[in-house]
Amino acid sequence: MIQDRKIAVIGGAGLEGKALASELASSGYKVYIGSRNLSRAQDTALKILKARSLDAERVVGSTNLEAAEAADIIFLTIPYEALKDTLDQLAQNLTDKQIVDVIVPHKLRSPTLLNTRQLERYRSHFGPGKSPSVTEEIYLYLQECTQHRPRLTAALKTISYKRLGLSKDMKEPILTWGYSSEDMQILLSILRTVFPNAELVEVPQMYWRSVEGVCELIRYLTLQGVKIEALNFSYNQTKQ
Ligand SMILES: NC(=O)c1ccc[n+]([C@@H]2O[C@H](COP(=O)([O-])OP(=O)(O)OC[C@H]3O[C@@H](n4cnc5c(N)ncnc54)[C@H](OP(=O)(O)O)[C@@H]3O)[C@@H](O)[C@H]2O)c1
Repeated sequence: MIQDRKIAVIGGAGLEGKALASELASSGYKVYIGSRNLSRAQDTALKILKARSLDAERVVGSTNLEAAEAADIIFLTIPYEALKDTLDQLAQNLTDKQIVDVIVPHKLRSPTLLNTRQLERYRSHFGPGKSPSVTEEIYLYLQECTQHRPRLTAALKTISYKRLGLSKDMKEPILTWGYSSEDMQILLSILRTVFPNAELVEVPQMYWRSVEGVCELIRYLTLQGVKIEALNFSYNQTKQ
């Protein structure tokens, strides 16, 4: 059963992480809330357990490292600026785990995880002047640190924490992507159990970076009641 998979939410005490952890736990997953601060993680776990009337073992507050060690699937819900420190700490625990990147940079950025050689290699492949998406940066960084191919996927970057709480009533398209079809199937199965009425859209790699650039805009427009037709980005006004 897909719910047998244990899930860590790194940054699980934050807005997006907590909302996501609540939905995962309510859908039957065992969830580890990861934080740099153990007591913050434990407080968050208790709040979720109480709010959702769940059994105590369903949500566990942990350090980020313990959460990554304990889980099979790791959601990253931390700011882009925190990524390097977090990956440096967790990298060796991520080699055989599936990662789900939920990170959206707040501003246009130069890649901070890649060295000049990696960036040149990326550009020789994708074209001069091109910059990697956050997901591609994580992939190349972890591959170099661990000498393993990361099991990397991404989802929910356009979904505000305010909408995650709608759970079964969440009907927005969820944009997803990843490197392996096997891991994509696992990700899509999880999302289907948590958000059964959302449309799941798989984004081709050539669009990852540009989609990341408009995630905040999509989130904002959606909260204003604008319906977004996924990849062709046509907008239809809906009643609020
Ligand atoms: N908010 C949304 O609606 C939304 C929607 C989609 C995607 N996202 C993405 O999800 C990520 C988190 O957003 P958020 O709104 O949840 O932010 P947030 O409320 O600030 O939470 C992020 C968590 O990351 C951890 N963190 C913060 N600074 C850190 C640092 N320097 N090093 C390590 N960990 C750090 C903190 O956890 P501890 O202090 O407990 O360690 C914090 O609780 C962002 O990349 C954002 O773009 C957010």
